[in-house]
Amino acid sequence: MSFLLVPALSACTSKVFDGPMQLSGKWVSSDTLNLGHDTYMNHCMQCHGIDGDGKGPASPGMKPPPRSFRYGKAPYGEGSGVFIKFANVTSGEMPNDDDLKRIVRYGLRGTPMLPWDISDERLEAVVQYIKTFAPTAWKEPGATPVKLTSDPWTGREQEAIALGKKLYHGVAQCFSCHPAYASLEEISAASKEFTGNPIDSIRENPHLSENQDSSYGVKFMPPDFTKSWIRSGNKASEIYRLLGAGVGGTTMASWKTTLSMTGDEKEAEERLWAVAHYVESLHQLKYDDKARQTFFTELNAKRAAK
Ligand code: HEC
Ligand code: HEC
Repeated sequence: MSFLLVPALSACTSKVFDGPMQLSGKWVSSDTLNLGHDTYMNHCMQCHGIDGDGKGPASPGMKPPPRSFRYGKAPYGEGSGVFIKFANVTSGEMPNDDDLKRIVRYGLRGTPMLPWDISDERLEAVVQYIKTFAPTAWKEPGATPVKLTSDPWTGREQEAIALGKKLYHGVAQCFSCHPAYASLEEISAASKEFTGNPIDSIRENPHLSENQDSSYGVKFMPPDFTKSWIRSGNKASEIYRLLGAGVGGTTMASWKTTLSMTGDEKEAEERLWAVAHYVESLHQLKYDDKARQTFFTELNAKRAAK
């Protein structure tokens, strides 16, 4: 039934807005919003829903579920605003149009949210339109984007990966949510090297992710990089950007400036890049069954040896 409604609605809704709206700190014309509405009804509504609640006709059973454009920022819930995971702003801050455009243009790998090859004009319009589902929250301009530096490890990737492995396990302890990819001995030695403190026990089943609450009304499983998708991009540079921002509305916080024990900004950046290279190297195993098997055979042998 609802499928019959779709073409009828999209054919007769070109004039929904008759005045401009203030979104992300600037006035957006009704022409743009009407074009955005038209684009949305044709390309997005099936999943994200007529009312932007993520409950479109194609949404049932989808994992992850299509995002509700009405969810978001603390205190969270309907109408409270920001609903973006992969913006390049410190997790929880207002995203910028560039973030929304990148996400719609490139899609989210491994999810039903595909890359959209629409004109720049329609892209701009639909990005403005989706904000109208939470107009109060989207009134404020976007936050200052997280500053990006260039890769200090070019030509020294192996060194970066080795350092990244130690930081992942011994300093950031990413394995409190994601899997550990090292034996307890290696983890403890890395922790001792960087923080002075050995680690004598870790959580049960460290080879599995721990399911996490989110602000989107559902739980998310942090990816196992050797088999899950990295949605916002799997190149070291994209992982680096993600680590600096965190994942909005989830327990994955920003790691910018946190990885230097002395608060040295340059060192923190080098280390963030090193962790990004390490995660990229783990993710390459997803595409190479044989290498993945060898990796886990060796790791399990190390884990069993003692
Ligand atoms: C086939 C279903 C589908 C269609 C069609 C679709 N999306 Fe999505 N979209 C999703 C899913 C699923 C997610 C959630 C991904 C996640 O949580 O990791 C999502 C997430 C998003 C997000 C949030 C990204 C973030 O970083 O949190 C935005 C913005 C978005 N979609 C915009 C759009 C726009 C604009 C269109 C139309 C041009 C569109 N989507 C069409 C399924 C779809
Ligand atoms: C407190 C729990 C927690 C910790 C600690 C944590 N993460 Fe995450 N991570 C998550 C969650 C939750 C997600 C999002 C899952 C989703 O969107 O479905 C995530 C997602 C990711 C992603 C995938 C993003 C994408 O584009 O799909 C990467 C990469 C990542 N984390 C790397 C790391 C690294 C590296 C560390 C340590 C420096 C770390 N995480 C620490 C919970 C955590």
